[in-house]
Amino acid sequence: MRNNQKQPSRFNPGLIVGIESSCDETACAVVAGGREVLSNVVASQAELHARFGGVVPEIAGRAHIEAINPVIAQAIDEAGIPPANLPASGKQAGVAAVAVANRPGLIGSLLVGLMAAKTLAWVWRVPIIGVNHIHAHAWAPALDDEEIEYPAVALIASGGHTSLYLCRSPDGLELLGATIDDAAGEAFDKVAAILNLPYPGGPAIDQASRNGQADAIKFPRSLLKGQSLDFSFSGIKTAVLYHVNGVPGSIRAGVEKGIERLGEKEISDIAAGFQAAVVDVMRTKIKRAVNFARQDRDTNVRTLIIGGGVAANSALREAVAELGEKLDLSVRIPAMEYCTDNAAMVAGLAFHHLRVGKTDDFELAATATVRR
Ligand code: KG4
Ligand code: ZN
Repeated sequence: MRNNQKQPSRFNPGLIVGIESSCDETACAVVAGGREVLSNVVASQAELHARFGGVVPEIAGRAHIEAINPVIAQAIDEAGIPPANLPASGKQAGVAAVAVANRPGLIGSLLVGLMAAKTLAWVWRVPIIGVNHIHAHAWAPALDDEEIEYPAVALIASGGHTSLYLCRSPDGLELLGATIDDAAGEAFDKVAAILNLPYPGGPAIDQASRNGQADAIKFPRSLLKGQSLDFSFSGIKTAVLYHVNGVPGSIRAGVEKGIERLGEKEISDIAAGFQAAVVDVMRTKIKRAVNFARQDRDTNVRTLIIGGGVAANSALREAVAELGEKLDLSVRIPAMEYCTDNAAMVAGLAFHHLRVGKTDDFELAATATVRR
């Protein structure tokens, strides 16, 4: 059958339209040259999920369907792309590719963005590029900012993931470790729920910690065996729960327990103690990762990247700045709008895939879990 439409353009250093829908943010962005963000539209569903204390996958999928078209339209509009330049025209200003975060994430949510991306790529006759969402987080510090100096170690921590990478280039990432149970942000959210603090819990705990004493209660630091670079946050969450409600069946069970008996000061102390423990674990793991890269991989790490929603945490930012100085690393933390889920990081990273011809076809699938 003859196809009169233009074939997908080969590398065009023009614009990339990115789409992100892996969790509870519907997002579209237009990025030029990997770093220059022309538009970055994010529709958050946080309000829809707040009363459940976490993201409800079915609600997320449905909300993405409602939001995706208006979000894309707004991103295209704000980027100021004239309609004539939408199909790949070979011109510098044309759209060179459509990028989509197709892994990992909630499968129903991923599929909405993937279908939208395929549709655009089909209509515009440009390549589609599937991007690893967590790898995209590690590119976020370069958005509207300077190039990243590689090699780098990246800690990406959010409500859905906690992963440590050795990055040799924007798209050359080696997974060094990841959480084996809860993500760090998930632990913040669950502990906030135990403490009757609002959702999302990270900002609330960060805030409460300012009035608390971090060493008033020493919560466990789960470092796992040997020099493991994996994380585990389910134990500390349980430790907080037991601290508040008592250990079930223990002889102390009769002692008065429960959040109601705790005053603001005690709640702040628990928040601060929890936050200190999480930050401590992250500091230790980052140090291990840098040592591992320098010694075992013979890689002279120059940069430390922190990304994901948890990178907003003030104690973590302080700890990382200090660590950077100690380990002689330049620290790169994205602007807040690029720390949390967004499509600019997806379009930005896709530029590096496109540059080396790493494009996908319409068989591209969504994958909920990846350990890479
Ligand atoms: O990256 P993000 O917006 O969405 C994904 O989960 O992918 O991250 C949201 C997570 C939530 O768990 C939230 O509690 C956490 O990031 N968070 C924080 C802070 N701000 C947001 N965690 C600790 N401290 C904060 N200041
Ligand atoms: Zn994320």
